[in-house]
Amino acid sequence: MPQKTLLIVCGGIEAVHGIALAKARGLHVVVSDMNPEAPGFKVADDALIASTYDVEETVAVATHYHNNVRRIDGVMCLGADVPRTVAAVAKSLGLPGISERSAALAADKLAMKQQFSKDGVPAPWFQPVADLSDLKKVMCQHAGQLVIKPADSRGSRGVQRIDASSDLAKAFARAQKESPTDRVIVEEYLSGPQISTESIVLDGKAYTPGFSDRNYEYLDRFAPFFIENGGDLPSHLPANQQEEICALVEKAAASLGIVNGNVKGDIVVHNGEPYVIELAARLSGGYFCTLEIPLNTGVDFVGNVIKLALGETVNPHDLVPKRQTPIAQRYKFVPPGRIAKIGNTDFVRGMDGIEELMISAQTGDVVQNTENTTARVAMVIATGSDRAEAAARAQAAIDSLDIIVEPIDATARPATPNQKTVLSVSAQ
Ligand SMILES: Nc1ncnc2c1ncn2[C@@H]1O[C@H](COP(=O)(O)OP(=O)(O)O)[C@@H](O)[C@H]1O
Ligand SMILES: [Mg+2]
Repeated sequence: MPQKTLLIVCGGIEAVHGIALAKARGLHVVVSDMNPEAPGFKVADDALIASTYDVEETVAVATHYHNNVRRIDGVMCLGADVPRTVAAVAKSLGLPGISERSAALAADKLAMKQQFSKDGVPAPWFQPVADLSDLKKVMCQHAGQLVIKPADSRGSRGVQRIDASSDLAKAFARAQKESPTDRVIVEEYLSGPQISTESIVLDGKAYTPGFSDRNYEYLDRFAPFFIENGGDLPSHLPANQQEEICALVEKAAASLGIVNGNVKGDIVVHNGEPYVIELAARLSGGYFCTLEIPLNTGVDFVGNVIKLALGETVNPHDLVPKRQTPIAQRYKFVPPGRIAKIGNTDFVRGMDGIEELMISAQTGDVVQNTENTTARVAMVIATGSDRAEAAARAQAAIDSLDIIVEPIDATARPATPNQKTVLSVSAQ
């Protein structure tokens, strides 16, 4: 059988593991990214230079490659939220994939929620806000906590919890800055346990082997921002609630018109009822799909998404968890500054139950702020005999990393040892 060719849109650091998985399946892997130094290019067979967000540019380079270099058999994205780019390439080259309409709905929180509300998919109350005076009006009409966010960004950028006491002008500006189209929405803040799901939809039926309790222990520390500190699997929710969530994901995917495809859900259980915060038409970032789901369940999630992208038959049986190994994922957060040292990594890799340590920063890197996930410079995944042991092992590993951050103005005013921030358990 001739070797098949898969186009993966995105060569970023979080795509590398998935690109390697595709290569290990014997595929010819071509990666597109605008950064000529993208780490994924080193693993790929071929590289195409195109911005992952630039739909036309990616379609143009993919079409040229398809017609002149090698026939492409499938397209998907990894480590990037670019369903519109993937859907457009699939359409242009006649490959399997979700429709451009579904991709457009998934990429726009306002359009998505309007569709959810038409189809009766439970989601937080929402409203677009055009400007500050609009926001002030909404705040007068709605008591309590709201969430303001860009209509079309990702990675929690610009997403903030606000109430009547917030600096509304600042909050609006922060959210708007993150929207490529300058659009902002507000939603009702729904308290309760948050869940990440990852599913493959086959002929309209959703299979959800990815099911993780999200860890928001730092909600107050990073307020008004939502910065997640990993997660725990299997979920602590009772089986009936988990089933309700899986059914909700299936309904939300149908609302977006996704009959065959993979979806990643942000779900909140508020007063015992599940609501969809959003449903993304892509694989998860943060190593959930590539590492945590296989470790937790034995399901080769990415392998099955690759099959789907290539138009091969996915056996639903292969999406059913074979086990529920306890897993905890945690991040190392650092305060703003310049990273002067990252040490003790080999020791941490050898600690009990540590399955993975990813360092996403280098010495010399400057960490600007804790408004988004750039303050997370390392990630560990641990297993244990139960959730508590896995979580304790992950935390011990995080605490054992020797990371020194110097104040950001260290070049102007050389830091003395006591000016350095040495991270320790108490600094967490
Ligand atoms: N209405 C809401 N109620 C409770 N939490 C929310 C709400 N909206 C967003 N969040 C929290 O903020 C995170 C980021 O918001 P989200 O809409 O998913 O944006 P992004 O595309 O940046 O991931 C969510 O995963 C969730 O934890
Ligand atoms: Mg989200």
